Amino acid sequence: MLKDKNILLAVCGSIAAYKAAILTRFLVKSGAKVKVIMTKAATEFISPLTLSTLSKNKVFIEFTEGNSGEWNNHVELALWADILLVAPASANSIAKMANGLCDNLLLATYLSAKCPVYIAPAMDLDMYKHPAIKKNIHTLSSFGIHIIDAENGELASGLVGEGRMAEPEHIVEYLNKKLSEPLPLYGKTALVTAGPTYEAIDPVRFIGNHSSGKMGFSIAESLANKGAKVILVSGPTSQTINNENVLIQNVITANEMLEACLNIFPKVNIAVFSAAVADYKPTLIATKKIKKSSSSHLLELAETVDILATLGKQKKTNQVLIGFALETENEIENAQKKVVSKNLDFIVLNSLNDTGAGFKVDTNKISIIDKHNNIRKFELKSKQEVANDIVNEIIGIGLPTH
Ligand code: CTP
Repeated sequence: MLKDKNILLAVCGSIAAYKAAILTRFLVKSGAKVKVIMTKAATEFISPLTLSTLSKNKVFIEFTEGNSGEWNNHVELALWADILLVAPASANSIAKMANGLCDNLLLATYLSAKCPVYIAPAMDLDMYKHPAIKKNIHTLSSFGIHIIDAENGELASGLVGEGRMAEPEHIVEYLNKKLSEPLPLYGKTALVTAGPTYEAIDPVRFIGNHSSGKMGFSIAESLANKGAKVILVSGPTSQTINNENVLIQNVITANEMLEACLNIFPKVNIAVFSAAVADYKPTLIATKKIKKSSSSHLLELAETVDILATLGKQKKTNQVLIGFALETENEIENAQKKVVSKNLDFIVLNSLNDTGAGFKVDTNKISIIDKHNNIRKFELKSKQEVANDIVNEIIGIGLPTH
């Protein structure tokens, strides 16, 4: 399973760092391409020369290279990796990873990584038992990071217990096992709508809204990471996505989004409508720029087609349909009505009354209301974590196979 995989091995400051040499050797022998990043503390436990010789690649330690000042591009390193394996993961690095700290190259690379991340903790037994460590490991696990549990045995302190890094052969076995497990949405297809729509008034003006597209792009990414093939129909946004399982179809108007969705929806298992579609568009689009002629100007608007409601009518029993509702009053009640009127499996409600939720921010606070009127409220989280929660809810429905 590891053949030709790009593995970025991140080595932290722990006595178990000496095992990174054997681990690198095993990974290379399995056919993986290995690059190593070390924290400065790790270099005190094992020489970078050992790891560069075994990995046949330069070892990355600092943001910049010695005298040349050349930048070690952490974003490029992270994008290169198919797997980021932090082994050993020290208590200090685990805490920083759980809290988004970024004071070395290893952490900057971790924060830039889009690939699956695995950590193999290593520390003394009492540290490993400490509630702060347990909490940090739990936080990393909630981000979708795979935890390769520490093992029981003799520790560097002389004590015996749980805390020593999993043996390199066990880490390789773990990776092989994980890579051979089918992803929960493998073989499924999904349609996601994202961003705003622009409805032209004249050649220079339009009616739009503040949607950034972040939520929809994060959902597309999360679905793809769980194995689905995704078509992302997006209105005008500055978001980008770099995932071979996501195909973007750009549209501008509500009508273009409707046409694209009508075409795609019959072929997919899952559809998530996070786009902020214009409810109205100008009845007529002026062919020439409208000149300022009086102190007021009336613009006649016509309703656009409700794409979600249209597809709700076409929905088959083997399809899952998810909508969004952005409400400012009677939130739950309004959202419940939309679940019924648009024939949804569930709706994701966010309220503009919640700080940190809504447009232009990187966070969101949602409630999920399903067709059986179950309501689940979530904490304020990053949009990528919210996307993971939504996708886990979809997986929880148990997609029909017929
Ligand atoms: N939606 C859509 N097509 C439209 C309008 C909305 O597909 N023309 C979808 C959105 O992507 C979202 C859901 O419908 O998933 C709810 O959108 P919203 O604008 O909140 O609901 P409306 O039914 O338009 O009601 P209102 O604006 O009155 O709240």
